[in-house]
This record gives sequence, structure tokens and C-alpha cells, in this order.
Amino acid sequence: MIRDLVIENRTRRRFHQEVAIELETLRELVDLARLSASFGNRQPLKYILSCEPQKNAVIFRCLIWAGALKDWPGPPEGERPSAYIIILGDTEIAKSFFCDHGITAQTILLGATERGLGGCMHDGIQRDELSRALGIPPRYEILLVVSLGKPKEKVVLETLEPGGDFNYWRDSDNVHHVPKRLLADIIIG
Ligand SMILES: Cc1cc2nc3c(=O)[nH]c(=O)nc-3n(C[C@H](O)[C@H](O)[C@H](O)COP(=O)(O)O)c2cc1C
Repeated sequence: MIRDLVIENRTRRRFHQEVAIELETLRELVDLARLSASFGNRQPLKYILSCEPQKNAVIFRCLIWAGALKDWPGPPEGERPSAYIIILGDTEIAKSFFCDHGITAQTILLGATERGLGGCMHDGIQRDELSRALGIPPRYEILLVVSLGKPKEKVVLETLEPGGDFNYWRDSDNVHHVPKRLLADIIIG
């Protein structure tokens, strides 16, 4: 059911790094994204796929992890993503990408969740460094990176009361808690 899939599709930041993700799986996920909505149907998004350790390491060091967890620099070796999908905007097709990359990232993550995988979308990217390291031509704007792997962490949804703290947190058992606003607080008319 779509509700179960959406609930299971939490941001994951710690993985069983030893569980590989095949290139074909990444291609299937982008094929889902390909069928998603696009402003004016321009379809300006392009993708770079990575599932091999050396390229993964290059991408990993350009990403910013969990800004709200101040004492956590990101997953250590052994708990890092097994794969990445870099979402690019092709400026020769469009100058503005509206929310196409958000839609595509969510579609990729839902597809990953259905396959027992999980991940995180990253806007926190050292874009210049990533561009340089992978030799991405200037016509492509780096929009988002989706990290993917076999999830290793437990994530629990909590209720966010009006005026409460929206920051996610981790408890002493390393369970990750994510507060969400109630339906009654977000439908305003
Ligand atoms: C557009 C966007 C960019 C994000 N960028 C990052 C990021 O750079 N690093 C990170 O660790 N999480 C990032 N996140 C994940 C959010 O922190 C996460 O969605 C939020 O904490 C709620 O958790 P949930 O996805 O499980 O509902 C991003 C999420 C979105 C939608």
C-alpha cells in the first residue's frame, strides 16, 4: 500500500555497506524517475550513477550529513552508502528545473524502499568539488544527490506539536526519531 511505502521511506543515513547495489538496480530506479512529472514536460534532468567503491568514496566526501546531529560527522566506513544517483539539470534543455528534481528524488527513494533499500537526498553538496572530481561538464547543474544502501538504522516517526522542535534526534540506542506535524495542523482551509 502506498501509505506503508511512504512511512517506510524514511531518510536513512547508516547502511550495511557490504551489501552491494547493482548498476542495473540504479538504472531501474532512474527508469522510474524518467516516467515522473516534469514542468512543461521538458525532462531536463540527467543522471550519474555510482555503485563502485572508488567513485562512491569521491562522492561521499562531497556530501553533508544530518545537519541537526551536531556531533555526528556522517556514517563511518562500513556504514556508508553502497551507491549514489547524482541528479543533474541540463542547462541546454532548461534554465530552471522547478521541482522536477524533488519529484525524481522521491520517486527514486520510493522505488528503492520497495526493493528493501533506503537512502537520503542531499542538497548539502560541495558542488564545485564534486563537479571537479567527476569531471562534470559545466552545462550540467548539480541539483541533488541521492545516497542509497541497505538500511542499518531504525527510524521512528514522532508527533510534532505546534511550536515544538522540528529537529530530528537520535536516542542512546541510536534509534533515529523524526517529528512530523499532525494533519490537523497543516490543513488550514
Ligand atoms: C530537498 C532535501 C534536501 C536534503 N538534504 C539533506 C542533506 O544534505 N543531508 C542530509 O543528511 N539530509 C538531507 N535531507 C533529509 C532531511 O533531513 C529529511 O528528509 C528530514 O530530516 C525528515 O526525515 P524523513 O525524510 O525521514 O521524513 C534533505 C531532504 C530534502 C527534502
